[in-house]
Amino acid sequence: MNSAFDRVLVTGATGQLGRALLAQLGPHRCIAASREVLPLHFPEALPHRLDYFRPRAIFNAGAYTAVDQAEQESESITVRAVNEESPAKLARWCAVNRVPLIHFSTDYVFDGSGDQPKGEIDPTGPLNRYGLSKLAGENEILSSGCRALIFRTSWVYDHRGKNFLKTMLRLGVEKDTLRVVDDQIGAPTFAPQLADAAIRGLENALIIEEKTGSFPSGVYHLCHRGATSWHGFAEAIFSRAKDRGVPLKVQHLEKITTEQYPTPARRPKNSRLDCSKAERTLGVRLPEWQVGLEECLDLWFAAHSTQQGDPLK
Ligand SMILES: NC(=O)c1ccc[n+]([C@@H]2O[C@H](COP(=O)([O-])OP(=O)(O)OC[C@H]3O[C@@H](n4cnc5c(N)ncnc54)[C@H](OP(=O)(O)O)[C@@H]3O)[C@@H](O)[C@H]2O)c1
Repeated sequence: MNSAFDRVLVTGATGQLGRALLAQLGPHRCIAASREVLPLHFPEALPHRLDYFRPRAIFNAGAYTAVDQAEQESESITVRAVNEESPAKLARWCAVNRVPLIHFSTDYVFDGSGDQPKGEIDPTGPLNRYGLSKLAGENEILSSGCRALIFRTSWVYDHRGKNFLKTMLRLGVEKDTLRVVDDQIGAPTFAPQLADAAIRGLENALIIEEKTGSFPSGVYHLCHRGATSWHGFAEAIFSRAKDRGVPLKVQHLEKITTEQYPTPARRPKNSRLDCSKAERTLGVRLPEWQVGLEECLDLWFAAHSTQQGDPLK
């Protein structure tokens, strides 16, 4: 393995993707940068801390991900500092120190128009402050001149943490009827499979650089194949959970529109991402979203059977 992997700094170490990256990179080779170690809301502090840690590669999985909260924030920690200014600082440090930066962005950089998968060069048009800040973060990285892979992904979930799958499993045992949005379409992406693909993406990018003298920097779409709605995802979660014997109470899963479920932040209706560039250039591709779901529920169940207590918490 390339020496870039000898000392990897992973931001967002307590998040869904950060945890998966740490597990797969091997904790002994990683600097697990929690918010205490690397406060992304305090961009000015970052260069000094990076000088201290001297990572050989950075995976920036940390982000302000509270999409609705970002619309109403009145706190000192701002979505702009975390998602735009910090990536800018990380990227400038990486450019000066010739360290590759692996960054994660989102389908929310798009306006959700149309019904076709969006390519990397399709026009952006974020509908909310989170999406705006993530797009600005991408642009800061691209203009820094550092060696960077920016992976735009969608609908990330894991068997731990706060996410749609966990919410559905909890509500499914409590309630008889659930109403779930059916007109937002995208690909649910299982964090460990995204982490694996991103690590392989960096390995392959370094091989390309060795062969051609040029690192394939840029934006890449990377999520599971296929697409469904939140309603379709919920349906699949309940069907697979039932197969595993989860005592579900839910009998009626109603389809509703985005307009029937108002939220502070607007969300794109078309979140389909065309991932062919990542496959063509970096040789990475995720399987159908249902494969991720099966793997996630297996892990969730294994954790359930070995733990005391309620796995739905
Ligand atoms: N979740 C999705 O559906 C989704 C969809 C598309 C793209 N993405 C992108 O994928 C990446 C990973 O997302 P995720 O789902 O793993 O997110 P997550 O589970 O919400 O984790 C976010 C991580 O960022 C850390 N963080 C937040 N504010 C911070 C700050 N001020 N200083 C330092 N660390 C801070 C959090 O630390 P604490 O635990 O201390 O809060 C946590 O470790 C992000 O770039 C996100 O924008 C996510």
